Amino acid sequence: MVCLGNICRSPLAEGILQSKLPTNKFFVDSAGTGAWHAGEQPDSRSIATALKNNIDLASQKARQFKISDFDTFDYIYVMDESNYNDVIKLATAENQKLKVKLILEQNSQSKLKEVPDPYYGGEEGFDIVFDMLDTACSQIATELLAQVIK
Ligand code: 4NP
Repeated sequence: MVCLGNICRSPLAEGILQSKLPTNKFFVDSAGTGAWHAGEQPDSRSIATALKNNIDLASQKARQFKISDFDTFDYIYVMDESNYNDVIKLATAENQKLKVKLILEQNSQSKLKEVPDPYYGGEEGFDIVFDMLDTACSQIATELLAQVIK
């Protein structure tokens, strides 16, 4: 799960997807394309929104996306087009580029393509982002679980 700062959107996406998958079969992580917040906890508004939904983000620590993530992970979900372009720029092979997907494109019902950045807005923006990510992650989890069962 990748966003810009790794303190608002992608920590929520990490916590939500992790909550829908068995931890012994899937490793879910998040990162930011930027390093400004590396080492920090998620934004307190992301932590609060997640807690309202029984998801604990407090142990997460921000980090920057790194080239080895292309090998570590089978799927790389980005929040917006800018994240997409920043991650694609780091890819050195076609199979790495194919791993990168806009997370809302996993939800066929979503009219929006990008998860809006809630950082400069109010708390309600975090609830909206939570709901968008929850829907997208339900769809992703269904697809991933079907692959494991196959
Ligand atoms: P995120 O939000 O990409 O969802 O973590 C942001 C957090 C911090 C900044 C930008 C976006 N920032 O510029 O510090």
